[in-house]
Amino acid sequence: MRPLLLAFGSLLFLCDSGWSKPLIVAHRGASHDAPENTLPAFVLAWKQGADAIEGDFLLTKDNKIICIHDGSTKRLADRNLVVRQSTLKELHELDIGSWKHEKFKGTKIPTIAEVFTTIPKGRKIFVEVKCGPEIIPHLVQEIENSKLKTEQVVLICFKKEVVQAFKKAMPNNKAFWLSSFKKDKEGTWTPSAGSVLATLKAFKADGLDSNKNIPEEIARKVMDAGYEWHAWTVNDVATAKKLKALGIHSITTDRPALIKGSL
Ligand code: G3P
Ligand code: CA
Repeated sequence: MRPLLLAFGSLLFLCDSGWSKPLIVAHRGASHDAPENTLPAFVLAWKQGADAIEGDFLLTKDNKIICIHDGSTKRLADRNLVVRQSTLKELHELDIGSWKHEKFKGTKIPTIAEVFTTIPKGRKIFVEVKCGPEIIPHLVQEIENSKLKTEQVVLICFKKEVVQAFKKAMPNNKAFWLSSFKKDKEGTWTPSAGSVLATLKAFKADGLDSNKNIPEEIARKVMDAGYEWHAWTVNDVATAKKLKALGIHSITTDRPALIKGSL
């Protein structure tokens, strides 16, 4: 009877979510093997079996959304341009692949529209907004212009006001609040479960995306309240297995092939 009940439970879960947990999310694409936040990294992530990709997004001077982590190109290119003070055309002239390996020479910073076109049917993107809510009207337009379904595009952001603005504009798309947990000498975690739940409710977030140092008791309380819990950036198998056992919804990793294969 018990195996039958378990099978029925799993079936119910799959029907409810369409996915088996945890999803494997490629952090900045397959960024262990290809230059972060580029089309080669995203294409490789799909080849490595990722269920979703994660990318960082900022606005250019001419209000185009591009995929880049930092506010300047200093770390990735041989010229230092400030993203918000440069046009898409100027930023497109840069090579952001050579720093990783010469085989990626000539790789350009992609627009969000270009990243969207790589996403296969049924897979997802975690759009991390690295600026403020001024990006939201442009993001809504890009999502509407794409052929992606509502469940394929989710937003993640450390800034609560960005989560709030996105949920107001696109209430049916999921949005997760990014947060880091820290434990003090007395063993008390910050933020607390009460503060997390209050924040998620106030900003209409669908859950949390946290660093991998997860306080299990808080995670259980938050998930029991019906919210999702996602975690970044996990590149070792032991931690991935621990998080799977905890029941979290996704694991973000630079190494999707390794983590997917191990689970
Ligand atoms: O998935 C969230 C994670 O990407 C946040 O950290 O610095 O890699 O953007 P960062
Ligand atoms: Ca990110």
